[in-house]
Amino acid sequence: MKEEINKIIRHIYNVKGTDLNIFEPSFLRERIKKRMGNTSTLNFENYLGLLKTDSQEADRLVDLLFIKHSQFFRNSLTFEILENIVLPQIVNDKINRKEKHIRIWSAGCADGQEPYSLAMLINEVCLSEKYEFVVDIFGTDLSRAALQCAKKGWYFSENMDHVKYFYLNKYFIKKQDRFEICKQIKDLVNFSLYDLLEKKTIAPPACIYAGFDLIMCGNLLMYYNETTQKFILNKLYRALDNRSWLVVGESEASAVKNFGHFNTFNRAGRIYSKD
Ligand SMILES: C[S@@+](CC[C@H](N)C(=O)[O-])C[C@H]1O[C@@H](n2cnc3c(N)ncnc32)[C@H](O)[C@@H]1O
Repeated sequence: MKEEINKIIRHIYNVKGTDLNIFEPSFLRERIKKRMGNTSTLNFENYLGLLKTDSQEADRLVDLLFIKHSQFFRNSLTFEILENIVLPQIVNDKINRKEKHIRIWSAGCADGQEPYSLAMLINEVCLSEKYEFVVDIFGTDLSRAALQCAKKGWYFSENMDHVKYFYLNKYFIKKQDRFEICKQIKDLVNFSLYDLLEKKTIAPPACIYAGFDLIMCGNLLMYYNETTQKFILNKLYRALDNRSWLVVGESEASAVKNFGHFNTFNRAGRIYSKD
């Protein structure tokens, strides 16, 4: 089976230039099997045959490897700790150091739910202080389609499960069957295309410079193999300012542990600090 999967990997590389070796092997196998199910293909060999005869199948497989599911306030514990401890600490540090810029990066932001959730929280924390901040939140992804949705800021009820009434009422506008992010929150987030596997930069060009106070990179590392995870974490580590924070997704604590360098601030919330 491994040899057949390697043939599929080589084929995709030849026709698309995409190296599927970057993915976590069991995830890759499961995604290929899913395509096989969708196309009623019985085995890997036949699937390779399909890839060779249907030129669009390679695109469909690659598309399936980049999972775009997201939610507002995706993990309630993580967001509660951010709201009550991490963001107030960032804000207080800024006040003590007489700095006014707060820089946050949502790396792999999908349709925008993650950076907008952070925008609502930081807006509330800043409002509680009599101090003027300049908040820049960057949302980046390699999917143009996801970024288009993110910029639009329209969401449907299935995305709203974890949104507290306070935020729903204050930062969303209900229009027919959808909830639209209000302009005040939209204006805090800058969306741009950026591949985290790009080797030349440590931060998206749209950010001009790195020096982030907080990077949230949820539910992205888990799909990649260990080498790729370390590459991404090294990039994020370098993009963070001193005295800053990293947040990853539910199944990604081991990736951060293997990378080393970060201090665990809250294990259950997967919140890490860089001193
Ligand atoms: C499962 S979603 C997670 C969205 C959000 N962070 C969350 O936790 O809800 C993963 C996102 O990461 C993006 N992604 C995957 N690999 C990427 C890469 N190398 N560079 C940039 N974005 C990537 C995908 O396109 C997708 O939108």
